[in-house]
Amino acid sequence: MKPYRPNDYSVRERTAPDYTVGENAFRAAGGEEGIRALVESFYHHMDSWPQARTVRQMHDDDLSESIDKLTTFLVGWFGGPARYEEKFGMLNLPGAHRHLAIGVAEKDMWLQCMQKALDDQDYDELFKRHVMVQLSFPAEMCRNRT
Ligand code: HEM
Repeated sequence: MKPYRPNDYSVRERTAPDYTVGENAFRAAGGEEGIRALVESFYHHMDSWPQARTVRQMHDDDLSESIDKLTTFLVGWFGGPARYEEKFGMLNLPGAHRHLAIGVAEKDMWLQCMQKALDDQDYDELFKRHVMVQLSFPAEMCRNRT
């Protein structure tokens, strides 16, 4: 009888970069240009998806500053250059959201807009999953009510 090897039948082995190391995530996200495209898509969904209205309404009508700030922040967060700090100085993430009413629903909506934006990009599925898991931590830090 053949010895039992689970990978023969179910789990397919594959290799993926360790996105927590060095610039791997930054590169997988397409560098600064790719991250800008991701954030533009994120705000496009927030702007056009009726369910995201509460979160959209927290922002200015003109989203260009929000796009710029989230892009520069994520460039550093993905392991690229510290563009946000260069342009705007240090950021206290929970502090920057303290004046906003962010509960579980708003946090989920923000993350769902990000999932839609990730799905628009030509990214590896494993990378998308990595980003969603990692972003759930800062998103939870921004939540300030139930
Ligand atoms: C949890 C749900 C979140 C909501 C509802 C939310 C909402 C907002 C809003 C409305 C602003 C604009 C604030 C203003 O103009 O006064 C903002 C700013 C910002 N957010 Fe969030 N945000 C969330 C999560 C996050 C996460 C997870 C990150 C980073 C990974 C992030 C990064 C930023 C940055 C960098 C700014 C600009 C801060 C500044 O320079 O003032 N946000 N957010």
